[in-house]
Amino acid sequence: MAETTLLRFITCGSVDDGKSTLIGRLLHETRQIFEDQADALARDSRKHGTTGDDVDYALLVDGLEAEREQGITIDVAYRFFATPARKFIVADTPGHEQYTRNMATGASTADLAIVLVDARKGVLTQTRRHSFIASLLGIRHVILAVNKIDLVGFDQAVFDDIVADYAEVAEHLGLERVETIPLSARYGDNIAERSDRLGWYDGPTLIELLERAPTANRAGAAPFRLPIQYVSRPNLDFRGFAGTVASGEIAAGDPVTVAKSGVSTKVSRIIGPDGDQERATAGQAVTLVLADEVEASRGNMLCRPTERPEVADQFAAHIVWMDEQPMLPGRSYWLRTETDQVPATVTDLKHRQDVNTFAHEAAKSLELNEIGLCNLSTQAPVAFDAYADNRVTGAFVLIDRMTNATAGAGMILHPLRRAANVHWQAITVDAEARAALKHQRPAVLWFTGLSGSGKSTIANLLEKKLHAQGRHTFILDGDNVRHGLNRDLGFTEVDRVENIRRVAEVARLMAEAGLLVIVSFISPFRAERRMARELMPEGQFVEIFVDTPFDVCAERDPKGLYAKALRGEIANFTGLDSPYEVPEQVDLHLRTDGRDASELADQVNGWLSSRGFLI
Ligand code: ADX
Repeated sequence: MAETTLLRFITCGSVDDGKSTLIGRLLHETRQIFEDQADALARDSRKHGTTGDDVDYALLVDGLEAEREQGITIDVAYRFFATPARKFIVADTPGHEQYTRNMATGASTADLAIVLVDARKGVLTQTRRHSFIASLLGIRHVILAVNKIDLVGFDQAVFDDIVADYAEVAEHLGLERVETIPLSARYGDNIAERSDRLGWYDGPTLIELLERAPTANRAGAAPFRLPIQYVSRPNLDFRGFAGTVASGEIAAGDPVTVAKSGVSTKVSRIIGPDGDQERATAGQAVTLVLADEVEASRGNMLCRPTERPEVADQFAAHIVWMDEQPMLPGRSYWLRTETDQVPATVTDLKHRQDVNTFAHEAAKSLELNEIGLCNLSTQAPVAFDAYADNRVTGAFVLIDRMTNATAGAGMILHPLRRAANVHWQAITVDAEARAALKHQRPAVLWFTGLSGSGKSTIANLLEKKLHAQGRHTFILDGDNVRHGLNRDLGFTEVDRVENIRRVAEVARLMAEAGLLVIVSFISPFRAERRMARELMPEGQFVEIFVDTPFDVCAERDPKGLYAKALRGEIANFTGLDSPYEVPEQVDLHLRTDGRDASELADQVNGWLSSRGFLI
């Protein structure tokens, strides 16, 4: 008997194109339905079905759906079936609102996509959209299934028109292999057997097409990659690098290189679940023992010296956004590759891609289900391949650092080398040395709070007091910086993130100059306050919450802005239609209500001297 290979595929189509019916039909035709399920199905079809006395296969799939594991956020069901020639896994992605992200999940491992088109409707916007996402996720092989052909009288001309329309889409997306077939999922025409009613079609049946489809077996042929999951060190005499081979193969005795350091050695042993083995291939979980002691830890990658992955801290990628919270350039996310995890920011959203028309649009952020081409910057170099070359080592997810939710999925295009030759210039006189000369320790005193909360007033008084004591200070104030450095920024979420990012960088430079830097910005988002903190050495960032209730600020209204905002004349006003995220952990909490600004400035001053900032 021929060896059965596994084919993974995805079905795409809009809600009424008959996706569920097709999957149910495939399961049925391949005899995967147990007798009792078939009986129950016949009963249910009579009761609830939409197909009269015929069995409604969509009910079968929907019934299985109900048994699915609960509580998963990504709504993809995997179904298994087999013919004597082959085994199949089909990712069933529900076609409702969350379609893009469900599809992104289902398509990332698929060898091909069946794109279903309703013969009466032809190529729709959704057809283009689904084909686009499939191609973005690396699918190069499409079976265009023109369904419900019975409803157009089995007319060849209708089929030919649809095929011609789709050829344009296929060309635009650079699909390598497109097969077309007319069928009726409901009545079984051309599914397992060629239909007499479609005498003009002399191609293979759908099941034959699936049986003959090549697997996108890129993982086997691709260069060897072992993303290191962990370093196994049970005793001093043993050290092994454990992980699952993402692609390619390796044999004992072969030379290997640690991707990030470039250090090379040889594989001395390969240990699998049953002990030592000669070779390891894609998909196998193994531990490699190397001939020399080399440094490598989780997140690094082993490869062949002649076939190295990219190692970079800047690269371009397509991102599919999956979170209710928009993707904001400048915000720090966790970037997680197969085994690596580093903080990362989107430095530039080059464009958003309209998934219906394939047009490139200018955009400042990505909303749920949107797709964009982005430049990213990671805090440390990561090892990766282009997604087109390797769907495992070329993919990543972005994780929201506050909620830990998977917020986006990325497909890497290529590294960016712009900053590659910019090195840190070693400077002998450091921040501490500069500050010591000024009899102080450098610090960033970060005041956050609502507009009108008193940040600037307290900050001013504090600077006056410090100045009088001979300290070296500088104030960065929201209103002032927005007249110069940040004059191009408004008050949308995206602009506020960028506002704080720039100010945090400037504050860091000033602290390196040895100053006590007083920063007074609303800085409404926790994520950016944390980013500012992380830029600074431990202990040099002091977060000061100027806690004045909204009503009190609105009452004081020093600049008349609350009155305007409440009249609807200012959009995105903090505390009204733009959020202020109250700090959770602060170094100093100033409750201003009923207290004098000078007293509060003294409190900060006292705190600084008690913590040794003023020498
Ligand atoms: S932040 O949110 O990006 O940190 P920033 O501190 O720079 O804001 O600027 C806030 C100042 O801009 C406020 O004190 C107020 O004077 C002014 N302002 C103008 N429009 C707005 C708005 N929509 N929301 C908040 N502040 C605004």
